[in-house]
Amino acid sequence: MTIGVLVSGTGTNLQALLDAGLPVRAVASNRRDAPALERVPHLPTAAFELDDYGSRAERDAAMAAWLEAQGVELVVLAGYMHILTPAFLERFPERVLNVHPSLLPDFPGAHAVADQLAAGVAQSGVTVHIVDDGVDTGPIVLQERVPVLDGDTVETLHARIKDVEHRLLPAAVEELLCAR
Ligand code: GAR
Repeated sequence: MTIGVLVSGTGTNLQALLDAGLPVRAVASNRRDAPALERVPHLPTAAFELDDYGSRAERDAAMAAWLEAQGVELVVLAGYMHILTPAFLERFPERVLNVHPSLLPDFPGAHAVADQLAAGVAQSGVTVHIVDDGVDTGPIVLQERVPVLDGDTVETLHARIKDVEHRLLPAAVEELLCAR
């Protein structure tokens, strides 16, 4: 199964997928300047900025069409920070996977690590799940706890969470590929 990855940031999770030898064939972003895109000079890449389209649905339809044209069958959100509309999800039914830095359903959203520290939780974690049309909802594929340590900052906690993500995300993708 051919994989397309969506990114918005630094792309360390994209790197983990590549390092695991998974069949990543195309990478797209909502940001032309996403550093993650620089990790894949050997692959087709494209940026779909909201400002270039009349609506979010139009942008998502264009992004889905581009991924399909690259032969993508499974989409992995690796630090992709926009909500996907039905215009995208309908093209890849139950074939979009997301990695999130908390024990979902707790702490969805774009600031999960800071939110967990502010709430004073003892346990953070990583969740890999199938994407539906909610915000960080959908069936969980894999989940693992990450303890919060005394003196943790957003940076130190997020770094330890990412270490787990880099193992859990490729494992979840492999599980899905084997199941299909
Ligand atoms: C990761 O920690 C990922 O879980 C998070 O963004 C980071 C991206 O890092 N995603 C979300 O918060 C989605 N709600 P990366 O660009 O280095 O892979």
